Amino acid sequence: MSYPNSERKLAFITGAAGGIGFATAEHLAKDGYDLFLVDFNAELLEKAKQALGKYGVIIDSVVLDLADSENLLAVLTKRLETMEVDALVNNAGIGFARTVEQTTLDEWDRTFDVNIKATFITCKLIVPQMIARGGGAIVNVASAGAMVGLKNRVAYASSKAAVVGLTRCICADHAAQGIRINAMAPGTVDSPWIGKILADSDDPVATRKMMESRQLDGQMGTPAEVANGIAFLLSPEGRFVNGSVFTMDSGYTAV
Ligand SMILES: NC(=O)c1ccc[n+]([C@@H]2O[C@H](COP(=O)([O-])OP(=O)(O)OC[C@H]3O[C@@H](n4cnc5c(N)ncnc54)[C@H](O)[C@@H]3O)[C@@H](O)[C@H]2O)c1
Repeated sequence: MSYPNSERKLAFITGAAGGIGFATAEHLAKDGYDLFLVDFNAELLEKAKQALGKYGVIIDSVVLDLADSENLLAVLTKRLETMEVDALVNNAGIGFARTVEQTTLDEWDRTFDVNIKATFITCKLIVPQMIARGGGAIVNVASAGAMVGLKNRVAYASSKAAVVGLTRCICADHAAQGIRINAMAPGTVDSPWIGKILADSDDPVATRKMMESRQLDGQMGTPAEVANGIAFLLSPEGRFVNGSVFTMDSGYTAV
């Protein structure tokens, strides 16, 4: 029982209002998970909940800016008094297109607060709860940029490398207590994020081509494809996968 009065498992997903987070919520709802969704975009989160309503599972949510660490810690501590999480997906992420010289201290801090500190906080609160119940599964969404250097993405790629480090350390400490925790490292995925990058680009057609060509088959991934991978890592079929960096990038980081 994860929500009181429910026999279904409960999945907690951050950044669930759009892109990979929403696709993951939809996949897990179809698989019969109840959902607890976090996002800072109240309007999109409400739309996401309405769209997921047809799956007949319990959906609760909270509008939170994951960059506000103190508030995140306080709100989650309270919410976890009345729910037990079986599957945690730390998906929300942000990035600034900057070199080391261009990156401001505020941009660096916000990137790390959302991409790694919020992931640390949810794990800090939920791992002990999972251990007390005999185990649980976690996926932290990193990036291909955690594995290779990315041009013009200093804070982003550094924070995603930290996500991989956190994932491996929690695995090392808690695998024997039933925690399975993996990092998902997607290549370029055709989400609203990429849509915004293209819209802001001087030459969206050329930029899209460049982004597509990083994948060896010349195509971006889709949010639904990454959601398939996340759902596998959370599922009993993923039992033997722990502490891994699961790349889904059509060969981007293979060469
Ligand atoms: N799209 C890609 O090409 C790609 C590639 C590799 C990794 N990723 C990673 O996948 C994850 C999801 O990316 P996406 O492409 O679906 O992004 P997206 O921007 O399309 O969706 C991200 C969601 O997170 C929410 N969010 C952002 N900042 C937040 C905050 N401070 N507090 C609460 N919610 C917040 C947004 O409102 C949005 O709903 C990110 O961690 C990203 O780094 C994406």
